[in-house]
Amino acid sequence: MRMRRKKHGAERIAACKELLIEAPLSEKNPNDYFPSPSPIHLEIGCGKGAFAVGMAKKYPNVNFVAMERVSDVACLALEKAKAEAEEGRDNLRFVIGDAKNLVECFPAHSFDCIYLNFSDPWPKKGYAKRRLTHRGFLELYRTLLVPGGILKFKTDNEGLYRFSLEEFEAAGLTILWKTENLHAEPEAADNVMTEYEKNFSEKGQPIYSAHVRF
Ligand SMILES: C[S@@+](CC[C@H](N)C(=O)[O-])C[C@H]1O[C@@H](n2cnc3c(N)ncnc32)[C@H](O)[C@@H]1O
Repeated sequence: MRMRRKKHGAERIAACKELLIEAPLSEKNPNDYFPSPSPIHLEIGCGKGAFAVGMAKKYPNVNFVAMERVSDVACLALEKAKAEAEEGRDNLRFVIGDAKNLVECFPAHSFDCIYLNFSDPWPKKGYAKRRLTHRGFLELYRTLLVPGGILKFKTDNEGLYRFSLEEFEAAGLTILWKTENLHAEPEAADNVMTEYEKNFSEKGQPIYSAHVRF
């Protein structure tokens, strides 16, 4: 996600600091950052935060952590979440950082569920290792998830979808559910849309999705 540098970005992020899990990140259990412990879910590459904010609103009994590596994008997500927090919701926190460092941020087996929404497809073969469903990343998620934890994945990119299914299988994960047209499935009734998903589906593009168990 490219974007012009935000004016006063650092100040705007600082104004939301109560929602930020900041460096240096400790070995603290992620539930320690919330008022009360709950099942805890992680979104990687949250972009401007529509999904994380929507999920936190829809599931008040789940604690959510959303990670984004571009601080100017995370700033918009933080501001969206702050507006919700002012209405009394307090089950969403953010990490500004790269997924490749996740295991240094949180203890093993911290999360019940991980979401990857419209991750960058990195279509060139030489960049396959950067795809967030590459087996290298799946091993990070295996460490972070509780045994039997779930990964939920959505994309508009057929190539990334097919690559991901191969990687899930190579990593020995159980594919619980998959579709090549999420919005035509009964599961769509519970679906919270991301910014990218809204744009792609308005253009009539099908949304691919899979749920896998570790
Ligand atoms: C294509 S955008 C999708 C944003 C959002 N999930 C959506 O569906 O609207 C992908 C986002 O993931 C972030 N991202 C990509 N690789 C990442 C990584 N390794 N760690 C954290 N964030 C990452 C990008 O900065 C970008 O904001």
